[in-house]
Amino acid sequence: MSAVIKGKQLRQRSDYTYKFNAKTGRHGWLRLTPAYSLKIVEELIVSHGQSRRIFDPFCGTGTTVLSAAYHGHEGVTADINPFLIWLAQAKTAHYSLRQIEATREACAAALELVRLQNIEPALAPPIHNIERWWSPRSLDFLRLLRSAILLVTDVHSAERTLLLIAFCRSLIQLSNAAFNHQSMSFKDNSQLDIGFGVDMAAVFYEHVSFILSGASENPIGEALVVFGDSRNPTDVVDGLFNLVVTSPPYANRMSYIRELRPYMYWLGFLINGRDAGELDWTAIGGTWGVATSRLTDWTRPTDCFKSVHLSKVLEQIAHVDNKNGLVLANYVAKYFDDMWNHFQCLTPRLDQGAELHYIVGNSTFYGSLVSTELLYAEMLAILGFKKIECRAIRKRNSKKELIEFDVVAQWQ
Ligand SMILES: C[S@@+](CC[C@H](N)C(=O)[O-])C[C@H]1O[C@@H](n2cnc3c(N)ncnc32)[C@H](O)[C@@H]1O
Repeated sequence: MSAVIKGKQLRQRSDYTYKFNAKTGRHGWLRLTPAYSLKIVEELIVSHGQSRRIFDPFCGTGTTVLSAAYHGHEGVTADINPFLIWLAQAKTAHYSLRQIEATREACAAALELVRLQNIEPALAPPIHNIERWWSPRSLDFLRLLRSAILLVTDVHSAERTLLLIAFCRSLIQLSNAAFNHQSMSFKDNSQLDIGFGVDMAAVFYEHVSFILSGASENPIGEALVVFGDSRNPTDVVDGLFNLVVTSPPYANRMSYIRELRPYMYWLGFLINGRDAGELDWTAIGGTWGVATSRLTDWTRPTDCFKSVHLSKVLEQIAHVDNKNGLVLANYVAKYFDDMWNHFQCLTPRLDQGAELHYIVGNSTFYGSLVSTELLYAEMLAILGFKKIECRAIRKRNSKKELIEFDVVAQWQ
């Protein structure tokens, strides 16, 4: 599938690859959302022919807002992760031919500096067990390249942004990380040949070319990407929306901060593990580092989401014969209380008749099924939404009870 598709074709097709190939997630690159969910998001946006104001409260890599802008809508999105904001802003930006050409030249200049090796390499990022991630040769190359990119480009320039995205892609390709499953693992020793015989400059060059081919295709609509906490969308974005399309965090203990830490450390968005844990604590469904220990002492607020269904599930999880039962029950309760805040604060931003689509999966904890879709539906019904439906989309994996849904609703 080609990454370079003209704006005209984009409006007619629903199977294209976005800028930077976010859809296929080549080399596991930032694939926060499975490809089929992206396809559904795309289809939903295509099906809304007339121009709309579309909101994605959980931006991730910016797929919804990018699709909205390509189809001529106005897309607005928010996220609490500053790295994802940077990335989504870069993906939705408009690039001139002059900027593309300047980036090509900066790439050549950076690679020449790396080849000559007469610059000070950047410090290695403070990632725990960094030797598991990169061989000494790959690490040396990346440190030199990072330094060279900063030397040949200006702060906040399009050239620097585009080269740093190519740098992110390269650092994963040159790492020992494997992305065979939903989350990342390390290749075993027999597979650790990365760094030997690989032309690392060619790897970077290839990524730069790929990114520039995507960057030259500018969306026709407008996209606004803002940093903010979607537990309170009224504080984060202005105006009224006709359509909300999103893939929110799931209650499945996946940490986006953990998944994204190689990029975030290399680009300076994270400088230590404590900050990583703090950021995960603000993330809905966050569960890493300090976030987990805080859950132990966490108690539900008085204005929490009150649901018989949820209380039953929490009871079951809390009383399993396992020392983690209580903390996991708190995890699930906090997830739904956070989503309850989100839905409550979203309503003032909805136009009359606005349509909501939340692509979300259910979960199991020690055999107890957490029906996220039904709990969302319950929240939406309490808030006065109409035409609420939980449309099953597909099974998430071999476990037959794990299913992905499109939770649909209409505002008043
Ligand atoms: C499932 S991902 C979104 C994937 C996205 N649709 C894509 O295509 O990449 C969920 C996102 O929600 C963000 N998030 C979690 N808690 C948040 C909060 N309180 N406010 C805003 N964003 C949040 C995470 O950082 C993550 O990027």
